[in-house]
Amino acid sequence: MAVKFFDRDETNECDGDAHRIILEAAHRLANRYLDTVAARHVGGTATRAQLVEALGGALPSGASDPVAVLEQLAAHADPGLVASAGPRYFGFVTGGAVPVSVGADWLAAAWDQNGAFFVMSPAVSVIEDIVSGWLLDMLDLPRSAGVGFVTGAHMANFTCLAAARHEVLRRAGWNVEALGLQRAPRVRVIAGDEVHVSAVGALRYLGFGSDEIEIVPADGQGRMRADALETTLATDEGPTIVCAQAGNVSSGASDPLEAIVASAHARGAWVHVDGAFGLWAAAVPELRPQVRGIAKADSWATDAHKWLNVPYDSGLAIVADAAPHRASMSLKASYLQRGDGEERVGTDWVPESSRRARVLPLYALVRALGHDGIAGIVRRSCALARRMADHLKKEPGVGILNDVVLNQVLVHFESDDITRAVIARVQAEGTCWAGGATWQNTQVMRISVSNWSTTEDDIDRSAGAILRCYRQSRPKAEG
Ligand SMILES: Cc1ncc(COP(=O)(O)O)c(C=O)c1O
Repeated sequence: MAVKFFDRDETNECDGDAHRIILEAAHRLANRYLDTVAARHVGGTATRAQLVEALGGALPSGASDPVAVLEQLAAHADPGLVASAGPRYFGFVTGGAVPVSVGADWLAAAWDQNGAFFVMSPAVSVIEDIVSGWLLDMLDLPRSAGVGFVTGAHMANFTCLAAARHEVLRRAGWNVEALGLQRAPRVRVIAGDEVHVSAVGALRYLGFGSDEIEIVPADGQGRMRADALETTLATDEGPTIVCAQAGNVSSGASDPLEAIVASAHARGAWVHVDGAFGLWAAAVPELRPQVRGIAKADSWATDAHKWLNVPYDSGLAIVADAAPHRASMSLKASYLQRGDGEERVGTDWVPESSRRARVLPLYALVRALGHDGIAGIVRRSCALARRMADHLKKEPGVGILNDVVLNQVLVHFESDDITRAVIARVQAEGTCWAGGATWQNTQVMRISVSNWSTTEDDIDRSAGAILRCYRQSRPKAEG
């Protein structure tokens, strides 16, 4: 049916039925996708050229039927979609989206609220406060911490490290927001050898060059060595930021946070923890020992779009002392109307001003699943990762290179070349999807189990497919 988006006569008013017809079409197309996501080839199947051909063309000069636009978008993008919302996508560290959080995300788009200021959306401002409290309870972090709702861990690292920069320089008598960095006292930045690249990127935006970072050696699981940190800290003094990690992006191992925090705090340093996915171990009683001491750190970056399984994009910047958090982010202008001080100003806690209501999916998720349900997703992913490792390591020639302590499995197949060949074959075969990386100079397949909908059967099928691909990738015996 043709739908008029606008009355194109003089008035240009919205046609009363347009939103209903268009959103029902989107609803139908989304359900069609989700109904089949578990069955489809997991990787994308189209080439770039095919996608450009199907989706591109010259700039449209006139109007098109909006429902037809959505239908064509869904049809033409389809072969370029990756079933990362499905149960057998094990690439990077990628969560799916629990249906209630998708529903809330649709409301965020339909309501089209700006989460910057209370007056722009009292509901979003209050919900951000409520969700902040729930998450701090769930993670057992200081209840008075500042919480910012950002796009992901990369921006969360940036936000937390901006607060760190503010505070270590304030203690040295320098107001970095007013005076800048060029004449400021030197700030030492210390990180483990396995620091995530996004923390390095965030430091770069804050004026700290990657070569300036003092690197502390890591152990065989990628954990910063606490004894080596102690040695590094002792070589100099002055304002210092230590970047630690909960959940190495490859192995899942967490740094010895208790010892790191003790050494760093003894010297007045700020401890930032990048816990993009590993922070959620803090929400599960039997996993919490892996991040023992975490609550004593000064700031934490994490993602909700990974292990919390809300739709992209969603990350959290948490800073124990709200004052430096707000001081490093907050901006004022006469037209930006503030309330009486009780009313949360969302933009005070994040690098952006205007912002979608990305807190809504989190609100719906926590309301619908509760702490137990969320802990269940984390716990189940870990059990499924161990199940995957158990299947794979039974095969002669296959090695698991990490201790599977969380949801990450690093697999080596006989040689680096064969491992690369297995990864390519698995991606082309389509039962599941896993990527590669170099782990301590060895090529590995990375398997990350992060999706709420993955079952034991998905793991068994995927392990079977991976092992078939391995057998097909081995050189044929001579003669
Ligand atoms: C430890 C760690 N930090 C930061 C990031 C970056 O997260 P995002 O891409 O959500 O910004 C990741 C991504 O996997 C990660 O594992």
